[in-house]
Amino acid sequence: MEKVISSPIRWTGSKKKLLNEMLYTFDREKEIYIEPFLGSGTVLINVLEKGYYSNYYVNDVNRSLIDFYRTLKENHERLSKMISKICKEYNELDTIDEKATYFYDMRKRYNGNRIKAYTRSSIFWFLMRTGYNGVYRVNLNGKFNVPFGKKKTIIFDQEKAEYISVLIQPVQFYCLGYQEFISELSEKIDLSKAFFYCDPPYIPETKSMENQVLYTKNRFEHSDFILHMLEWWESYYDLTFMISMSDSHKTDELYNIWELNKICVCDIIRSVNPRKKLVSKEVAFLNYIISEDEMKMADNTEPAFVL
Ligand SMILES: C[S@@+](CC[C@H](N)C(=O)[O-])C[C@H]1O[C@@H](n2cnc3c(N)ncnc32)[C@H](O)[C@@H]1O
Repeated sequence: MEKVISSPIRWTGSKKKLLNEMLYTFDREKEIYIEPFLGSGTVLINVLEKGYYSNYYVNDVNRSLIDFYRTLKENHERLSKMISKICKEYNELDTIDEKATYFYDMRKRYNGNRIKAYTRSSIFWFLMRTGYNGVYRVNLNGKFNVPFGKKKTIIFDQEKAEYISVLIQPVQFYCLGYQEFISELSEKIDLSKAFFYCDPPYIPETKSMENQVLYTKNRFEHSDFILHMLEWWESYYDLTFMISMSDSHKTDELYNIWELNKICVCDIIRSVNPRKKLVSKEVAFLNYIISEDEMKMADNTEPAFVL
């Protein structure tokens, strides 16, 4: 069974359960790896582990996520020390009410203005670990407003953090909207040598799911995104990309266009809402062809063993 390294950050929509299947279908003939919607970083970490590419450029509009990786890259010892101190304080509290008070104090600190990068990164890790269901949600003022998730104990794996810190040394991290990110990159590197793995926010299936899959205060416009991808492809003919999506009627309307190939990655149980387990099919749209052999390998891949 192949091992998948999970991200240090708990994050809704993480691809860890699908990774084994997905990685077989990546375009490995390119030199450059680009991930405009990084999320937890699980995909990046496992691609780095396999050493598929020589250059890595990743981005997410969420500043805390990117700062977390920047601090982990720069000084994992300092970050680990700060997170371990938070874990110790939290685990030593006797009651769940005390833990809840600790959580809401930390949330207030995180939402404050004057907070240094390492403190912010360690509190961010803590809030994602102990907040409700690994959801990142902000209010209209951009303040993190996820409630307490009632976790009793938390552990930070320092060894894994060190390992990931070494892996991410060659990676350039950006914190921009995806359009600015790509236009900035287009001035620096030759995008025709790049493979893009794109995992944008899900298309909400119901009105009530909208907030949980949004991540930011603004709606994500999928129709704009696909148009941009096609434009970049027209400008850089050899550029290849894969867009991950959950299978739905809306997804097909937007992404199942003649220029792209649709593949089923595998069936998954998605637990965005813990009380309502949804079974959905994960699909990907590619602008390149994968061989039947690669497809068979993806089909026969064992479920991921998550470390
Ligand atoms: C589905 S998640 C990615 C999950 C990731 N593949 C993983 O395994 O954890 C989508 C990500 O897109 C980011 N995002 C949303 N709108 C964005 C935008 N306009 N530009 C860049 N990133 C954006 C969100 O912050 C979120 O982290």
